[in-house]
Amino acid sequence: MKKQNLIKRIYLMLNKRQKINFIIIIFIMILSALLSQLLPLSIGKLTDDILNQENLSFSAIIPFLLFILIVTVSNEIIKVIRRVIVEDTCTRCEKNARSQAVSSLLHAPLSYFKENMTGNIHGKLNRSLEGTIRLLKLLFMDFAPAIFSGIAAIVVIFSKLPLFLSILMLFVIPIGIIIIFRQISTQKGIRVELMEEKSSMDGTMVELINGIEVIRVTDNAETEVDRFKNKSEFLRQKEMKHHKAMAFYDCLKFVNEALFTVLVIGTSAYLAGENIISVGTVLTAYLCFTQLTTPLRELHRIFDELSESTILAKEYFNIIDLEQDFSYKRNKSKNIKNDSNYFIQFKDVGFSYKNSNKKIISNLNLNISEGKFIGIAGPSGCGKSSLIKILTKLEKNTSGIITIDNRNLDNLSRRDISEIIALVPQNPFLVAGTIRENICYGNHKKVTNEEVKEAAKRAYIDDFIESLPNGYDTILAEGGNNLSGGQRQRIAIARVFLRKPKILILDEATSALDNTSEKYIQKQIEQLQIENNTLIISIAHRLTTLENCDSILVFDNGQIVQKGKYHELITTAGIFQDMYNGKLK
Ligand SMILES: Nc1ncnc2c1ncn2[C@@H]1O[C@H](COP(=O)(O)OP(=O)(O)OP(=O)(O)O)[C@@H](O)[C@H]1O
Ligand SMILES: [Mg+2]
Repeated sequence: MKKQNLIKRIYLMLNKRQKINFIIIIFIMILSALLSQLLPLSIGKLTDDILNQENLSFSAIIPFLLFILIVTVSNEIIKVIRRVIVEDTCTRCEKNARSQAVSSLLHAPLSYFKENMTGNIHGKLNRSLEGTIRLLKLLFMDFAPAIFSGIAAIVVIFSKLPLFLSILMLFVIPIGIIIIFRQISTQKGIRVELMEEKSSMDGTMVELINGIEVIRVTDNAETEVDRFKNKSEFLRQKEMKHHKAMAFYDCLKFVNEALFTVLVIGTSAYLAGENIISVGTVLTAYLCFTQLTTPLRELHRIFDELSESTILAKEYFNIIDLEQDFSYKRNKSKNIKNDSNYFIQFKDVGFSYKNSNKKIISNLNLNISEGKFIGIAGPSGCGKSSLIKILTKLEKNTSGIITIDNRNLDNLSRRDISEIIALVPQNPFLVAGTIRENICYGNHKKVTNEEVKEAAKRAYIDDFIESLPNGYDTILAEGGNNLSGGQRQRIAIARVFLRKPKILILDEATSALDNTSEKYIQKQIEQLQIENNTLIISIAHRLTTLENCDSILVFDNGQIVQKGKYHELITTAGIFQDMYNGKLK
């Protein structure tokens, strides 16, 4: 992204009110810049008055002192007002920017999450957001005021001081700018490297936290600490190289200022000695020069921070510009009619994962009628979950057509699909919230407490929930980590009984349950099939789960190799019988 585009996009982040704030800030800063210039002038005049009038009474100085006090206090008040407006604008922008980034991530293709580590994405998001807001502040809140103060100082310098002295003072600016640009160009690469290194460490950190139990059981903590230590040392060395270079350039900037300060004082003192200027003007010249170096120092800081923030802001806009997942690309959601006939058809469907030539599903032709209970079995890795992913538009089929109620899946929106299909995946997703919130998760309609309880009862989890001190208000840990695998699965299944979907997909949904609770839940699912005419697709390794299916499809290498009822399949030679006899897993 070009720098101009970046500035334009940052500007577009401001809404109308924030743009008005920006204009107010500029006015405030012009006022503040002007007020600042009054100080050197009045102090210079006061000095000359003291030196010129032999019997200057103290009472004559009082108006001067009062004037200096009023100017200084007014300037500070103006700065406070400016700061409040700046922070108000920036915090509002940050809020919007964060929501946009989260929305962009939640709509991004799933491949993005497979290609980037979780912690890496999280770290990048936070740092880039911080950098973008800093850039916004620098460009629209800090840069203009520094320029105004500098211009005001230059105007006063040229109008009040001799031309030679004024031109001499001005030379401090180009030399300062050359130093800062040299600093930026030499440090840019290392800054990008540092950012990537930090993101990678964030990724590793989240990976370690997620694997804490395995790390403990394998007693691998020390190895991981060493791995982290090596990465940290590598990062530290890079950072030190950067800090040393920065210290060198900062030193150059101060030397530049110090040299010019000496030159200005020396020259003006010489001119006063030659009676070309008054003694008060020596003081005015020095103070005017400080009025020039203050915004210059501010510009140094701005340019320096600007180079780092620009890198981060580019990262932020990379997140914002992530393409939308294909499944969101259909425009409007069609109203799902209650009298729809929820049958599913696969016509010559094929599928491969992105960046892979391996055919996961090939030439799949299949009709599943409304209200049917279909089982899917097959060896591990044969493509069962992948089939479900393309049916729920988590992945796009690479060939063929899938229809639901004669409507092409491509034309169904995310909302349509979420209303028709409920999926209980292999690893259920629980949020860090109450059990009630978790059972209601994904349910877009209002439900009563009784309905939630009824759903939990059907999922064989109500007794357990009631036994907890806070019942349905019990807060679950992240990912439901304070529950057993079976309890997590039952909460995920309770969602289904609450929603009563027209199509239900169970991917190993009861794999962690004991036989008694599985049988109970299985009965309730079959009951749901009858009372709601739900089409059910159930994937299971535990074959008895599929005992009452209307038909079982046996997959191997992404193709249907057998089809039939449970009792037919266990008595026919083939993969299903082998699986039943424990010969194949
Ligand atoms: N995101 C992915 N990218 C690339 N390949 C993948 C991805 N997910 C799965 N695969 C591959 O696709 C094949 C089918 O995987 P799938 O998850 O559909 O198997 P499955 O039949 O559900 O197995 P299981 O019974 O073990 O759950 C496997 O070979 C797997 O390695
Ligand atoms: Mg699977």
